[in-house]
Amino acid sequence: MILGIETSCDETAAALVTPEGGIRSNVVSSQADLHARYGGVVPEVASRRHLELISPVVREALAEAGASLDDVDRIAVTQGPGLIGALLVGLAAAKALAWSRRLPLVPVDHLRGHVASLYLEPDPLEPPFLCLLASGGHTLLLDVRGYHDERVLGTTLDDAAGEAFDKGARLLGLGYPGGGELDRIAREGDPDAYGFPVARVPGLDFSFSGLKTALLYATRDLSPGELDARRADLAASYQHAIVRALVQRVREAAARTGAGRVAVVGGVAANSELRASLPDAALAPLPLCTDNAAMIASAGRFGRAIRYPGYLGLDAYASR
Ligand code: KG4
Ligand code: ZN
Repeated sequence: MILGIETSCDETAAALVTPEGGIRSNVVSSQADLHARYGGVVPEVASRRHLELISPVVREALAEAGASLDDVDRIAVTQGPGLIGALLVGLAAAKALAWSRRLPLVPVDHLRGHVASLYLEPDPLEPPFLCLLASGGHTLLLDVRGYHDERVLGTTLDDAAGEAFDKGARLLGLGYPGGGELDRIAREGDPDAYGFPVARVPGLDFSFSGLKTALLYATRDLSPGELDARRADLAASYQHAIVRALVQRVREAAARTGAGRVAVVGGVAANSELRASLPDAALAPLPLCTDNAAMIASAGRFGRAIRYPGYLGLDAYASR
C-alpha cells in the first residue's frame, strides 16, 4: 500500500491507498478551530500543531486500515505549494519513515494531489479531461492530458475562489473557514436578491476581488439586525456570482479546447450550487474535496519513487 501524508496548510492528514486506488483509510485532523479566533491560518501555529499531530495521525491511518508499516511499499508526501513550515513537518516525517523502513518516497505537488482525488475507486476517472481546481489557495483551469501532464489554461488574477468564499463569509459574520457555512446559509436565500458583478477579464482567467468589494459595500451600512435579516439573501447572491463565474469559464474552456469531459476538484468543489450547476461533470467525492492525504497517496501511484539517499535532498516549496 501507499502511505500518503499531507500537511500543506491546516489539516494534518495521513491515508493508506492500494496500488489500484482503493482507499483503506483516510484520516484528517483539522486545526480549523485552533485558527478560527485569528480569522485565518497562523503559519507558525500550524507548524507546531502538525508536529504534535503527525505521528498519532499516521498511527491512526495504519490502525484504521488494519495495517502496519510492513504493509507499506512507498510513502507519498506533499512537497508544495503551501505553508513552508507546515510542509517541512510532513516532508521530514515522510523522510524519517522512509529511511527507517527502507522505503522509496514520492514527492507530490499538492495541486496534482487535488486532481488525483479523481483517480480513486469506486469511480476513477482517466485523463484526458478539463479540470477546474478551486480551493482556498488556487483557482486553476487545467487541460489534463495525462497523469503527469497538464497545461494551465487560466488562473485567478487576484483572490482564489475559496478565499472569496472565506472573505465573504467573514463580512457576513460567519466563522472561519466560512465556505461551507456560507453554502448552508445560501440555501435559505434568494440568489437574485442582489446583482453582484462578475468581473470579465480577458482569456480564461478569473477575478474575484471586485465581488468581495461589492459585498463590503452592500453590508457596511447595515445594522446588526438588518444584517441578520438579509444574511441569507446576501450569501445566496454572493455565492451565485462566484459559481456563475466559475461555470461560465468552465464552459468557455470546454468549447475552446473541445474537451469531452469536465471535472471539478478542490475545497470549493464541495459547494452545493457549483455541483448542481455542472450535472454532467466528474465531481471529486465530497470527503476528498478539501485537503486530505488519500489524494496525495493517489498521486503517489503515478509519481516517480525516489530511493535512499536521493530523497534526503528534497526540499519543500511554498509556491509553484
Ligand atoms: O482544498 P482546500 O481544503 O484547501 C486548499 O488547498 O486551499 O480548500 C479549502 C477552501 C476554503 O476556502 C473553504 O472555505 C472552501 O474550500 N470550501 C467551500 C466549501 N467547502 C469548503 N467553499 C464553498 N462551498 C463549500 N461547501
Ligand atoms: Zn488543497
